[in-house]
Amino acid sequence: MKKVYIKTWGCQMNEYDSTLIKSFLEKKESYLLIDNAKKADILILNTCSIREKAQEKLFHQLGRWRKLKKDNPNIIIAVGGCVATQEGIKIFNRANYINIIFGTQTLHRLPNMIKSAIVSKKLIVDVINYKSIEKFDNIQYTVTSISRISSLVAIMEGCNKYCSFCIVPYTRGREVSRPVIDIINEIKQLTKLGTREVILLGQNVNSYFGEYINGKKCDFSKLLYYISEINEIYRIRFITSHPLHFTNNLIHAYSKIPQLIDSLHLPVQSGSDRILKLMRRRYSTVQYKIIIEKLKSIRPKMHISSDFIIGFPGETEIDFKKTMALVKDVYFDMSFSFLYSPRPGTPASILKQNTSIEERKKRLFMLQNKIIIQSKKLSLNMLNTTQSVLVDGIAKNDIMKLSGKTMNNRTVYFEGRHSCIGKIVKINITNVSRHTLIGRVI
Ligand code: SAH
Ligand code: F3S
Repeated sequence: MKKVYIKTWGCQMNEYDSTLIKSFLEKKESYLLIDNAKKADILILNTCSIREKAQEKLFHQLGRWRKLKKDNPNIIIAVGGCVATQEGIKIFNRANYINIIFGTQTLHRLPNMIKSAIVSKKLIVDVINYKSIEKFDNIQYTVTSISRISSLVAIMEGCNKYCSFCIVPYTRGREVSRPVIDIINEIKQLTKLGTREVILLGQNVNSYFGEYINGKKCDFSKLLYYISEINEIYRIRFITSHPLHFTNNLIHAYSKIPQLIDSLHLPVQSGSDRILKLMRRRYSTVQYKIIIEKLKSIRPKMHISSDFIIGFPGETEIDFKKTMALVKDVYFDMSFSFLYSPRPGTPASILKQNTSIEERKKRLFMLQNKIIIQSKKLSLNMLNTTQSVLVDGIAKNDIMKLSGKTMNNRTVYFEGRHSCIGKIVKINITNVSRHTLIGRVI
């Protein structure tokens, strides 16, 4: 039995890919997944390249593993994910002790690569797959690979949008959607392991384009209706959608599908139309605000979160003020906000930076601070209210308590019986901090 250790960083798609790797390896009886790199025979690194320093981070980690390999030359080291897809053999040129380089679309072949590497002791590079949907075939989860109340399910992968700053279209390839039937089967399989909430995953979930059913292509909103028919699924979330394809049908789904939660993560990136153009985002701030207004007319309690890029080349003080105004208008609850970082091969990477790093950092701090204040206010509004909470397990910091999620995706801690796990319970909110709440079962 070979012991396998997997290290992952980056986006949720990457995390999901690692879950797939685990399920592929667990299907083979000869592998055991462990949490300690020092005891492993096989070390797998699943990398991300969305922001800067991806390469440095990768070689740092490999450096640490090199020491383990010195003590035990039989260790197999495999490097995958977005950096591996982009860099390929170049990684070996800098770290000639690695054995396998695999891509975001070839991870289903990893068990075979490992087998060959053990036998041949030669470098194996397999990063390209033209049938990119293949990795989703034959997914079979086990209790150890996944046994969660809330599970990620990929519905599509890749991106055709080519925002000027983004590396994803180059590392994840063009958009491909999984067949509806596969997605439904996977969700049903997960419900048998206890899943009650699905997080539908993709770079642009609302570009989803499934098969024809009754003569009509199944789009994202239709897929949501199908999923809502699975009785054991109480809640449906998705990341990430794009404002460009946030259709009226999708908005309307919020009035028909109670399982859709009251929280939406919709990346806007900037509040300045001039910058949005330079970013090639293909919507305006007004279009964005209209989507939010329509949604809030259906779900007044909806919380909105977003991604922001601060300090995009050419961003002026006025552009930044527009972003801050949008933050207030929409009243964002949470953000993933970062300084712009030039990514190799993207159109924006040749644009000149006009603002000092100090100024850019100051802007980022101001934005994050404003959103934190808003977030606290939104939490305060929940004090003394009754919330429907999906109980997802034992609280991280207090084993005497349970944790769960409100409809608007706030974590709540409360005392309760373990038999509540996986159920929806009514909780009175008695105490709040920014993103977590304390409550009492009613
Ligand atoms: N729709 C995709 C977006 C992927 S990238 C998804 O979430 O699946 C995630 C976020 O990373 C983007 O929304 C953007 O805010 C940020 N990002 C992407 N490229 C970046 C860059 N070059 N510099 C800084 N942030 C970046
Ligand atoms: Fe990246 Fe834009 Fe696609 S941010 S993932 S190119 S929608």
